[in-house]
Amino acid sequence: MTKILMVCLGNICRSPLAEGILKSKLPKQNYFIDSAGTSNYHIGSSPDSRSVNIARHNNIDICLQQARQFTAQDFKDFDVIYAMDNSNLKNILALAQTETEKSKVKIILNESYPNSNKDVPDPYHDTDKGFENVFNMLDKACSIIANRYLNN
Ligand code: 4NP
Repeated sequence: MTKILMVCLGNICRSPLAEGILKSKLPKQNYFIDSAGTSNYHIGSSPDSRSVNIARHNNIDICLQQARQFTAQDFKDFDVIYAMDNSNLKNILALAQTETEKSKVKIILNESYPNSNKDVPDPYHDTDKGFENVFNMLDKACSIIANRYLNN
């Protein structure tokens, strides 16, 4: 089983989308995909309705997800940890205890824009258009991730 974790700040906008999109592209018998937030702001909450809507529009159901906070145990439980932006990358790395743990953490948009360290913009204060933009960015990155696993 390959275990992949998607991480943003609140775990209600970006990482629930990343989780749902990657799950839609990989077989669930072989891939465990989850998401978490670096903050405790929305623990237990459902995804933001704007994320639920743009996912549903693309035939992906994320409405049963519940926000949780990233913990140091996640370094042990997951093989790869994707940060949605540089701020979350920093917060995740601050909890790592070994170089092996640090090496599991990647910036998700480096999949589509190698070595560019681009952020998935925080859409929380944005319009529906912002969520559509986030969906498209994550869909592209997740296609690259999924194709790499499926071709190996
Ligand atoms: P997310 O978006 O990190 O993509 O889930 C946010 C959600 C909530 C907040 C910030 C970003 N907040 O400040 O409450």
